[in-house]
Amino acid sequence: MSHIRTFSAMVLLVSLFLIFFYSTLHLETTYSHKATPEDLPEHPSLQVQVLDSDVITQSSKQESVTVPQPDVDVVENVTVSEDFRRTIPQNRGYWNRLLYSALTNLDKGENPFRHHSNWSHCKETNQELLRTNMHDFNSYPDLFQDFVEGMDCRNSPVVLNQPRKCIAGGREAGNQTLLLFGIKSIPGHFEQRQALRETWGREGIYQNGQRVRTVFLMGSPKEDDPDLSILLSFEARHFGDILQWDFHESFLNLTLKMNVFLQWTLQHCPHVTFVFSGDDDVFVNTPLLLSYLQSLDSSKASKLYVGDVISTASPLRDPKSKYFIPLSFYDGPYPAYAGGGGFVISGALLKPLYSVSHIIPFYPIDDVYTGTCFKAIGVSPEAHRGFHTFDIKKEDREYLCAHKELILTHQRSPQQIKKLWRGIHSPLLTC
Ligand SMILES: *[C@@H]1O[C@H](CO)[C@@H](O)[C@H](O)[C@H]1NC(C)=O
Ligand SMILES: *[C@@H]1O[C@H](CO)[C@@H](O)[C@H](O)[C@H]1NC(C)=O
Ligand SMILES: *[C@@H]1O[C@H](CO)[C@@H](O)[C@H](O)[C@H]1NC(C)=O
Repeated sequence: MSHIRTFSAMVLLVSLFLIFFYSTLHLETTYSHKATPEDLPEHPSLQVQVLDSDVITQSSKQESVTVPQPDVDVVENVTVSEDFRRTIPQNRGYWNRLLYSALTNLDKGENPFRHHSNWSHCKETNQELLRTNMHDFNSYPDLFQDFVEGMDCRNSPVVLNQPRKCIAGGREAGNQTLLLFGIKSIPGHFEQRQALRETWGREGIYQNGQRVRTVFLMGSPKEDDPDLSILLSFEARHFGDILQWDFHESFLNLTLKMNVFLQWTLQHCPHVTFVFSGDDDVFVNTPLLLSYLQSLDSSKASKLYVGDVISTASPLRDPKSKYFIPLSFYDGPYPAYAGGGGFVISGALLKPLYSVSHIIPFYPIDDVYTGTCFKAIGVSPEAHRGFHTFDIKKEDREYLCAHKELILTHQRSPQQIKKLWRGIHSPLLTC
């Protein structure tokens, strides 16, 4: 077994080298998703006018546009809680106005799911419109401008799929998936993924015959990044756990990543009991997480949104921050949310969560967005002391017993993850 592993690792390394070498020789652009001005009439995004009432409306032109709705079968009708409307202020922030415009449509009984977009024409290219709605749009950081232009881009095509993920695996122990790990990765993180496959992300049957499955979620490299597609398709075939979509990897595209993951899970793993969403650099004590999940009574198990809860956060206004949000984009507090390093939700909540995401405009910070959508459907995050998406005390980081009692700890290297995993399983460990 270890020979096979060593061999696979060597094949990966050699191919990696060849690919890098190859990509320096052929500098060609493989991605081109630019919308041309002629495409605009077909553009399904909100045509925005600022009215006296400050509410954005859709132009009448749009009524004639039929937009494909490939995933309409996984969307159900939703109602948005009053509490949510009280939390998010109705003011001049662009996102605030988009939201209230969508809520107005919902209240009028109009189909709120209609601004599904055509992936190749989803970007807002009308700069005038953006400047009208966000007076300082030109001073937004480039990536943020990119995000705003792509806010309506949702149905990203799948590049690497695992359609049989949740049915494969034999019938001996049943194919019901108790827990699906959806791990946010990026194409170059081969080493992180391999460490997780060998440790907490290992697929299989755990205590009490509970089945765990794992997928790694990723977008595509940007034009200037090396093309890893051959390596990834090799990895996908060999391990069967790679999901890749046709959007560019970027911090501000993580909301899109979560959204397509929800869509994928509803299509390909609809009966899963719990879903984990988290980073590829965290450490998870899988046996402890499974015991916790199995200890829940059924009413709680069907409404679970648990993690490290941030309950009183507000947007950061420092343009240098990774989490910067311009005031003209969003003005208001954040609802309580579970930190994106790792949280768990009930499979039963996937459909309402995904459905309401069609009403709530995309927000650039993925875990805030998830918390916002949960708030809209009336689910509050549950704080659990075992989830540490911010790091634990320095003196405890090497202390195995601390990890034996924690479900999730943040930021570990692949080497640390392997060491911790071996450590907490050691029969010699007495805590
Ligand atoms: C998206 O728009 C383009 C150009 O209008 C069209 O050729 C293509 O078929 C559309 N895609 C879908 C899925 O409707
Ligand atoms: C197991 O997979 C089969 C398809 O191969 C499906 O018909 C059946 O419902 C699945 N059972 C469970 C418990 O998910
Ligand atoms: C997100 O992905 C889309 C599609 O590839 C891309 O056009 C956009 O620039 C990306 N957004 C950011 C903020 O990088």
